[in-house]
Amino acid sequence: MAAGKRFIVLSNWKMNKTHAEGTAFIRAVRDARPGPPDRMEVILCVPFTLLKAVSDEARDSGLISVGAQDVYWEAQGAYTGEISAPMLADAGARYGMVGHSERRALFAETDEIAAKKAGALLKAGIIPIVCLGESLEERKRGLTFNRLEYQFMTCFEALSREDMARTVILYEPLWAIGTGRHATPREAGEAHGFIRQMVVRLHSERTAARTRIVYGGSVDAGHAAALCASKDTDGLGVGSASWDVRNFVRILETCARAIPAGS
Ligand code: PGA
Repeated sequence: MAAGKRFIVLSNWKMNKTHAEGTAFIRAVRDARPGPPDRMEVILCVPFTLLKAVSDEARDSGLISVGAQDVYWEAQGAYTGEISAPMLADAGARYGMVGHSERRALFAETDEIAAKKAGALLKAGIIPIVCLGESLEERKRGLTFNRLEYQFMTCFEALSREDMARTVILYEPLWAIGTGRHATPREAGEAHGFIRQMVVRLHSERTAARTRIVYGGSVDAGHAAALCASKDTDGLGVGSASWDVRNFVRILETCARAIPAGS
C-alpha cells in the first residue's frame, strides 16, 4: 500500500439489520477503538433505511465512514422506489457502492449501468466504490484479465484523473462471494496489480498510486492478515463475516496489526 493512504476495511451489511441492531453495531465498533484512525478507515455499507442513523452515530468518530449499497443515476423525478445520489448525500453517505455482483446477478445491473451510477455519485460529491470481478468460468478459461479490462474501461474510461483517484475499486471475484472460498493473497495481488496498471495506462503512475484497490469475497478473521499483506491491496471488503459485531471487531483488530509498516 502506498504511503499516506488509510487501509480500508469495508463491511457490507447487505439486506440485514433493523434500526436498533444497526445503531448497536456502530456503537460497539466505535467503543472498541479497533484501529488507528490515521492509518485505517472503516466503511459501513448499510441499507438505505439506516443511512441517516448510522452516519449520525459515525460523526466525529474519525475512524468510521458510511456508504450506501446502491443508487439510481437520475437526480430526481418519477422513478418510483429509487434513491438518488443527492438523497444519499443528504442522508450522510460519504460512499456509494455500485455494480455489486448480487445487483448484477439478481437485478440485471451491467457495467454500463454501474458506470452511470458511479458518475451520478461523483456529481453529488459521493465517492463511488465500484465492484469488479470475474466468474469462475472466466478464471478457468484464462479470461480473468480480459473481463477485468472490459469492466475497468467501461466504468472508468470517461473519468477525469481526479475522479479516478477518488474512486475505490472493489475487486470481488464472483467465485469468492458468499462461497467460503477466498482468493489467495497472490491471486488478489495479481488482479490488483493488473487493475493498477490500467490506471497507469489511462492516467499516470501518480494517479494509480492514489487509487484505492480493495479485495472482497469470503474474507474472515482467519485469513484477513495474509490478505492485508498482499501486494497492491489497499483494503478488505467483508460481507457475512462482518455481520456479527464481535467478529467484525476481531477482523478490524487483525487488520490493524497486519497493515504493512510505513503505510
Ligand atoms: P462475503 O461477501 O464476505 O459474504 O463473501 C462479500 C461481499 O459481497 O461484498
